[in-house]
Amino acid sequence: MIQLSDHRLSGHRLIEVRSFKWPHRPTSLAIARLLGEDSFGRWLGVARGEPWWVADRSRVGVFEQSLVKGPGKKRILELGAGGGQVAAAMVDLGYEVVALEQAPTLSAHAQKLAAAPLAGQLTVVQADFYTVELAGPFDVVCYYDGFGVGADADQQRLLQRIAGWLTPTGRARIEISTPWYAAAVDGRGWTVGQAERRYNFDADGCRWLDAWWPSGQQEQQVQQSLRCYSPADLRLLLASTGLELQHVQPGGTVDWTQGTWLPVVPLGKAMNYVAQLGLASR
Ligand SMILES: C[S@@+](CC[C@H](N)C(=O)[O-])C[C@H]1O[C@@H](n2cnc3c(N)ncnc32)[C@H](O)[C@@H]1O
Repeated sequence: MIQLSDHRLSGHRLIEVRSFKWPHRPTSLAIARLLGEDSFGRWLGVARGEPWWVADRSRVGVFEQSLVKGPGKKRILELGAGGGQVAAAMVDLGYEVVALEQAPTLSAHAQKLAAAPLAGQLTVVQADFYTVELAGPFDVVCYYDGFGVGADADQQRLLQRIAGWLTPTGRARIEISTPWYAAAVDGRGWTVGQAERRYNFDADGCRWLDAWWPSGQQEQQVQQSLRCYSPADLRLLLASTGLELQHVQPGGTVDWTQGTWLPVVPLGKAMNYVAQLGLASR
């Protein structure tokens, strides 16, 4: 595994780009509405129509060559693909990518990227990943910065669907928030443009709560809530989904004293990790 220190790529490499803007983006459409389409789009690097290499300037790539080796065209499914920048980057490396995104503004941006000349094929599907019917199978299914919305049963439903989309040797790469980071930032708040934002941790439900409201109008607060899983919790969640945990790749963390992002730290300090999943052996 090679860590890339910036977005530049050489040779035929699949990047996995963990999403990072400051520090963890809004997932829910309610927050998108609160921020306004424009701010939400800007957050995800799409409002000004920035090309992905500009929009992704703060991202850190993790390259996992073994997932996409071998003969034949490799197919990748990206769930919750946002503005499609990561999908377009993968397509430019020659892969056939389906970018699935439910938010209209974001999938429209991905469509724009798909219309540009790219080395491979980018298909954008605007749909809900719980209900969409896709023509699989895929060698890789990835989901960055979004897993954990909803109840355990919802994640299991999605994981079962992922198992159904994979080739027999396919792999899923899913970014998952850790409970220890969410607990460490409990009560931390700051201002984002015209809005206030505050983190809390629901210790009983093991959920990271992320509340937003227009400055001075807390009664209009909307909140997203993300279930956090340690790898041990994830193994329990995976039972009966048809998937097994094969590898854990620790992500980074925020150094709040310096206001900087540390891209790779030990798992016990990481804000999240990428779980590599494969079909469970019977
Ligand atoms: C926090 S954003 C991350 C976007 C992108 N993966 C990235 O890292 O830049 C999570 C994305 O998942 C999408 N999403 C959430 N639930 C979804 C669902 N049920 N079906 C399709 N997309 C969904 C959201 O609309 C949002 O764009």
